[in-house]
Amino acid sequence: MLTDKSLNRQEKGKFIVFEGVDGSGLSTQASRLHAWLEQTTGRKVLLTKEPSEGPVGVLLRQALNKRIQGLGADTMALLFAADRLDHLNHAILPALAKGYHVICDRYLLSSLAYQGRNFPLAWLKQINAEAIAPDLTIFIRVDPVITLQRIADKRFQVDLFEQENILREVLSNYNLLVNELGRKGQKIIEIDGNHALDDVSTEILSSVQELIPKFGVKNFQYQS
Ligand code: TMP
Repeated sequence: MLTDKSLNRQEKGKFIVFEGVDGSGLSTQASRLHAWLEQTTGRKVLLTKEPSEGPVGVLLRQALNKRIQGLGADTMALLFAADRLDHLNHAILPALAKGYHVICDRYLLSSLAYQGRNFPLAWLKQINAEAIAPDLTIFIRVDPVITLQRIADKRFQVDLFEQENILREVLSNYNLLVNELGRKGQKIIEIDGNHALDDVSTEILSSVQELIPKFGVKNFQYQS
């Protein structure tokens, strides 16, 4: 049986996280990267997201789409942290230990950027202290005016944080966090998400190739 100790970091999968404001194309780019990594590395790749599909994540989704109302911002911050631990323990860590690569659509930085509007970073970091650092964070930057237009074109319902003033604050928090992580030596790359979908994907693939250098991107066909 493979245990954490029997695998060195190279044999373990890589943990790659996508971040950005609502409507930045995180899910589209995460699923394109998933297809590319599966085809080119020959490894299994777990594509997952937060809030997760676990019990706490399901509760959070209902709060985000306003089916449940009245949860305080503090309760939500704790639920996001609890969902993250549950997600790590039940999905992310077991997959990495088995040698899968893991792509996660949102992770800790989302809590720091979104809940950071209401609470000190020190508290948010404390309640998320058990969340391991990703091997690579891909931050897709798109102006909130554009992302809100994309959301309005796609669906009628507006989720909890999908307002321009909120997303502007979130974006400015992301700016500070991206700089902070970079200074601390964590691998984080910033992608201009205002470009065409395929150009954004190509930029992402070349960054991931630096992390997982053995495999080529040539002749890969995107499936949108
Ligand atoms: P999404 O599934 O469209 O990305 O929506 C998830 C929403 O939840 C998005 O508005 C960001 C928000 N969120 C937080 O506020 N904190 C968190 O820790 C996470 C993971 C998401």
